[in-house]
Amino acid sequence: MRLPIVDNFDRTHRNLRISVTDRCNIRCVYCMPEEVTFLPSSEILSFEEIERVVRLMVQMGINRVRLTGGEPLVRRELWRLVESLKSIDGLDDIAMTTNGILLEKHAADLKRAGLDRLNISLDTLDREQFKSLTRRDELDRALAGIAAAKDAGFENTRINAVSMAGITEQEIVPLARFCRQHDLELRFIEFMPLDGDQNWQTGKVLKGEDIRATIESEVASIRPATRNYQAQPAINWDYVDGQGSIGFIDPVSSPFCSSCDRLRLTAEGKLRNCLFSTIEWDVRNAIRSGKTDDEIDSLVRECVAAKKAGHGIDSSEFERPDRAMYQIGG
Ligand code: GTP
Ligand code: 5AD
Ligand code: SF4
Repeated sequence: MRLPIVDNFDRTHRNLRISVTDRCNIRCVYCMPEEVTFLPSSEILSFEEIERVVRLMVQMGINRVRLTGGEPLVRRELWRLVESLKSIDGLDDIAMTTNGILLEKHAADLKRAGLDRLNISLDTLDREQFKSLTRRDELDRALAGIAAAKDAGFENTRINAVSMAGITEQEIVPLARFCRQHDLELRFIEFMPLDGDQNWQTGKVLKGEDIRATIESEVASIRPATRNYQAQPAINWDYVDGQGSIGFIDPVSSPFCSSCDRLRLTAEGKLRNCLFSTIEWDVRNAIRSGKTDDEIDSLVRECVAAKKAGHGIDSSEFERPDRAMYQIGG
């Protein structure tokens, strides 16, 4: 075993979010621009390279991994990566965040390979609104993907809905009712300044507290619940009538950085200590130039030693990262 990964604010890092591709089959306005130049495949970490990094970081105390993108399922045979990560002792949770469009095709293989959990992004149940938010006509396949996840035996699937003021208010009630009906935990996520078009402004954030008020008045009563685990971004609320729960990820109105346990590895192998970090540590170059595990261990610690207390979106000194969400991994 190696020493745990602790930063200067005494936060121990146990969670690694790995982007497996920057490509995606839709173009959500809060994430990607319409026109994108994707990374060439030679620049993307291979499954073997990802496995090497994860094996090392598990020795350093990482015990949860989340696969993200872009859209992770556009990466061919992703189940093979899941299967190889599953063989790592000490990794307790392998999860994925997906838009669900390719789940009909892949859910059973992912389950068989050992994927523990799925979070599926879905911002609306309305076809026209889906087209306008994602610039693609894929609502039916996304919904079929949610059903396929259930059929494949995935439990505790969560639905992620990004909330944008003036745009998604009318989605709150239908999404909440749909998720209650289908036994899915819905989480509303405040829009963060990571959109590819750089249109984010404070006024475009639909705050969690406003959504809670709408749920209370138009869906059903809710009450605060305990967190599933301490460092999770979402605050959980239970429906008072016992029919399910709902979560709120409020990074803008209530930052949760003080309990952050997350590191991020981008598709091209750059390690980031924060969604909003402006510096990256080049793990791919370390691997491809033959660095030892001890040298990569030092690189990880260097990255974490530079982690700031919080994102500071509110501060006048806030610097937006050059990268948009699809290039980081969410
Ligand atoms: P579980 O709690 O394991 O289910 O997953 P999660 O909520 O951490 O993962 P998911 O990918 O579903 O994240 C949902 C949203 O929370 C995404 O928009 C993420 O970008 C956002 N999020 C996740 N981690 C962080 C974080 O460290 N900082 C900020 N600001 N946002 C985060
Ligand atoms: N703000 C908040 N959430 C975002 N996501 C993508 N871009 C943004 C943004 N600018 C969410 C997606 C997905 C997760 C990986 O990140 O909806 O649920
Ligand atoms: Fe962690 Fe950065 Fe997210 Fe804050 S904004 S919770 S420090 S990743």
